Amino acid sequence: MIEQLEQIEASALAALPAVSDSAGLEAWRVTHLGRSSPLMSVLGDLGKLPKEERPAIGQRGNQAKRALEEAYTAKAEALRQAEMEHALRAGALDVTLPGRPQRRGRLHPAVQGLREISAVFAEMGFQIYRSREVESDDYNFGLLNMPPHHPARDMWDTFYTTTPNVILRTHTSPGQIHAMRQFYPEPIRVILPGMCYRYEQITARSDIQFYQVEGLAVGRRITLSDLKGTLSDFARRMFGQTVRTRFRADHFPFTEPSAEMDVECFVCGGQGCAVCKQTGWLEILGCGMVHPTVLANGGYDPAVFSGFAFGMGPQRITMLKHRIEDIRYFFQDDMRFLEQF
Ligand code: PHE
Repeated sequence: MIEQLEQIEASALAALPAVSDSAGLEAWRVTHLGRSSPLMSVLGDLGKLPKEERPAIGQRGNQAKRALEEAYTAKAEALRQAEMEHALRAGALDVTLPGRPQRRGRLHPAVQGLREISAVFAEMGFQIYRSREVESDDYNFGLLNMPPHHPARDMWDTFYTTTPNVILRTHTSPGQIHAMRQFYPEPIRVILPGMCYRYEQITARSDIQFYQVEGLAVGRRITLSDLKGTLSDFARRMFGQTVRTRFRADHFPFTEPSAEMDVECFVCGGQGCAVCKQTGWLEILGCGMVHPTVLANGGYDPAVFSGFAFGMGPQRITMLKHRIEDIRYFFQDDMRFLEQF
């Protein structure tokens, strides 16, 4: 009987190393320690043995049971460890692998240019004033001193809509009237950035839709020197402290006197090159003192108030700065172009 127990114990222990997972371990437990296992049936039948044999067999049987239970616990612990290590290894992070490149978004070059210009004027105390892109004929022309049939209207090839008197603004100047009518009688110092539309031949230099940044200052003692000082300072902040500027007389119906401002060509430093067409100068904006009629249309008495205004094409400035050769690149959404900025 003792030998039988020894054999039961030995064969149970011998089967254990082959167990490799918790399901296998449970099967082993049922076979060797379960209710109908050989060991349990020996222990269950103890009562049937002669009285004097019982203590020795019982003792040996319990010893075998304890040995199997201890082996079971140890195996269970070992399996748990192994399974955890396996899970850790499977989820491990290999920090030596190369990363996956992330494509980062970026601001459109036209927006970058707009923001640069806005930041310079913000430093000088100009606020941003938003004005509509769809305008009435009156705001785009009439109130800017261009009554119907005024020949100067030809300077702006206009997109008309099927609704009478509703057009796409050809410049940001109508915003001057909106700003004045809103702020009267306060002094004004605003810039008006936004999209404009012109029914023109699309070329490398002109598109049918483009940004402008308008500027307007209205107050009691604003002079032409304020205009020149503000715009020269803008040019220095935008293109560098040593850049030279010049003003050339020009004509706009809504300013008097009117001028265009040139900056020294920053590509050749004024020597003459292809970008400045050998002139040494780049034209960047139109400007002038707000015409008395326009001040009055905005609600400001021209005998008391004066002001200056200017309008520039930020895309043109961005093109010059980055040597972009064709304005059409701006709105073609070609990633090869956009990713360079
Ligand atoms: N509105 C003019 C244009 O589109 C520019 C301008 C603005 C000129 C303000 C003078 C004053 O060409």
